[in-house]
Amino acid sequence: MTSHRVIVDVPGREPGHISCPRGTSVLRAMVAAGLRHLPVGCRSGGCGVCRIRVEHGEYTLGRMSATQVDDTAAAQGVALACQLFPTSDLRITPLRPTEATTPPEENP
Ligand code: FES
Repeated sequence: MTSHRVIVDVPGREPGHISCPRGTSVLRAMVAAGLRHLPVGCRSGGCGVCRIRVEHGEYTLGRMSATQVDDTAAAQGVALACQLFPTSDLRITPLRPTEATTPPEENP
């Protein structure tokens, strides 16, 4: 089975590394690997707790609530890890809820 390597960068922590099989969401692969770099909520693209930014790599997305990730954010690489399916190796960064909708310079 084809797998892709996913690196999870969290400031102040060692990066997490997982292998994500094709057709498996990044969040599911993280849970299976015991990697606790992201909160786990609904697992269906609705609650937004698993919001991340893709820093590098190719992927497809499942259904995501537009309330959690609008088209503009999605075009900038924001995604929900439970709906993120790698098609190449990826590097991702978890986001706090406000970081997905507010430019970094406007965060307090
Ligand atoms: S766990 Fe709820 S949107 Fe991903």
